[in-house]
Amino acid sequence: MWAKVLAVAKRRGFIWPAFDIYGGLSGFYDYGPLGAELKRNIMEIWRRYYVLIEGFAEIDSPNLSPEAVFRASGHLDKFEDYMTVCRSCGAAFRADSLVETENADALSADELWDIMRRENIRCPECGGEPSKPEPFNLMFRTTIGPKGKRERTGYLRPETAQAMFMDFQYLYRYFREKLPFGAVQTGKGFRNEISPRQGLLRLREFNMAEAEIFFDPEKKEWGGFERIAGERLRLIPNNGNELEMSAAEAVERGIIKNQALAYFVALTKRFLIAVGIDEKRLRFREHLQDEMAHYADDCWDAEVLLSYGWVELVGIADRTNYDLSRHMEFSGENLRAMRKYPEPKEVEVEEIIPDYRKMGPLFKGNAKKVAEALKAMNPADLHDDVTLEIDGNEYVVPESAYRVEKVRKKVSGEEFIPHVIEPSYGIDRILYAVMEHNYYEIEEDGETYRILRLPASVAPVKAGVFPLMSKDRLNEKAREIYENLRKAGINAFYDDSGSIGRRYARMDEIGTPFCITVDYQSLEDDTVTIRFRDTKEQIRVRGDEVTGKIRDLIERGERATP
Ligand code: GLY
Repeated sequence: MWAKVLAVAKRRGFIWPAFDIYGGLSGFYDYGPLGAELKRNIMEIWRRYYVLIEGFAEIDSPNLSPEAVFRASGHLDKFEDYMTVCRSCGAAFRADSLVETENADALSADELWDIMRRENIRCPECGGEPSKPEPFNLMFRTTIGPKGKRERTGYLRPETAQAMFMDFQYLYRYFREKLPFGAVQTGKGFRNEISPRQGLLRLREFNMAEAEIFFDPEKKEWGGFERIAGERLRLIPNNGNELEMSAAEAVERGIIKNQALAYFVALTKRFLIAVGIDEKRLRFREHLQDEMAHYADDCWDAEVLLSYGWVELVGIADRTNYDLSRHMEFSGENLRAMRKYPEPKEVEVEEIIPDYRKMGPLFKGNAKKVAEALKAMNPADLHDDVTLEIDGNEYVVPESAYRVEKVRKKVSGEEFIPHVIEPSYGIDRILYAVMEHNYYEIEEDGETYRILRLPASVAPVKAGVFPLMSKDRLNEKAREIYENLRKAGINAFYDDSGSIGRRYARMDEIGTPFCITVDYQSLEDDTVTIRFRDTKEQIRVRGDEVTGKIRDLIERGERATP
């Protein structure tokens, strides 16, 4: 099936192999005109869910980041796959893709190597002997700035998430220091995949849409949970078999560990169905403990059944306070939030007091940064000389340069590091899955008709506009309708070539939900027909009402039925 979908996608201008005239490069695709429009529509719906309805704040940050970011985030040390290289032909593979064990991506290098030797696994390309798996970091490394003293190592971001953690203080102030709040970012992510092979499913440069929701882990309720509480979810917890239940029941039975996580699982289901994923081929699977990314404590994947098998489209992870803690530790900045007490309290607290007269000469221009990092530490952790790592540099603060004092203070609240739930959407995979789930072939009169039954809201072209004949003023009237639609922001396609049947078929194949035909009756009573893709039904509407009618049909967000 995927081969058929990709063939239509290529022929009709959805997806083209990038750099094709130079032989292409695996893991890179271009979106053609219809694919770019389809992607934009999916993103718009995502924004509607997360920015307009949830009220999360959208940011837009650089693709390229200095090394310090990924040292703190853990990607420099832990974002790796195991690579094996054929000793005969030199082809490289992800070792887990060669072994047939379930959840092979959770195995260690030694476990993979044991299986490879036991099962005498050979190179899939030449039958040669593969090497022992070695870790391979998936980030693209580059340099920033001119060669020499100012040159710095940089990496293309493997996820858009980090900027939202680094901007925490700005975001916290933007939301008037109230939790929970969410930030989102959409854009490119980059991963130097070892051997990408499955079309749009594994790309080296890909489109992501991520939300980071910052909340107080002591608050057990999630505001607005009742809106999704009844949503039925098909769940595979990491300790059992598939179950179906409501989001509320999943939390009550401890299957999804808190309301916040369950909320975004249910919201993800609603979004995926809205963009055209088939509910019957959608499930949520919890990661096994050893399958989780280094920053996650729990993760539910939205998986869909495709002709490739079950494929992850979205990961909804509980990142706890991992990222904020790490960025605090590495930057020395305070990324905490305040939990207000109902009444101010007098408490005795231990405070770290840096001795600036000693810190100044020791750390010069960095003294303030070092002092802040020191103050951000837990006094209970301070013993003797303290070694701090800030922006990749080490600073040793001698015991004589600070003291810990007990002080009584009236405090209005306490500081804590917020926890984060992250729904992370792979947009290219979603786009492909939407195409495959809506692709139909119908045999008629010995011919194969292909229909893409996309929801009207995501379809790249909303309306085909046809004059029955390209003469007798039918074409002028059709052009006017076509231009009015486009002026109103509705992507329409004008077609006056070939039989009406062929024109409908061309539109069906690219998922156009509505076709408007100007015929001879139109000249008499100023009406036109609207034909609905999925039922083939036709209605007549007045020419000057067409734009409004098409807009209503799109906004209903439904399939192409009257
Ligand atoms: N931020 C989620 C991921 O990198 O997959």
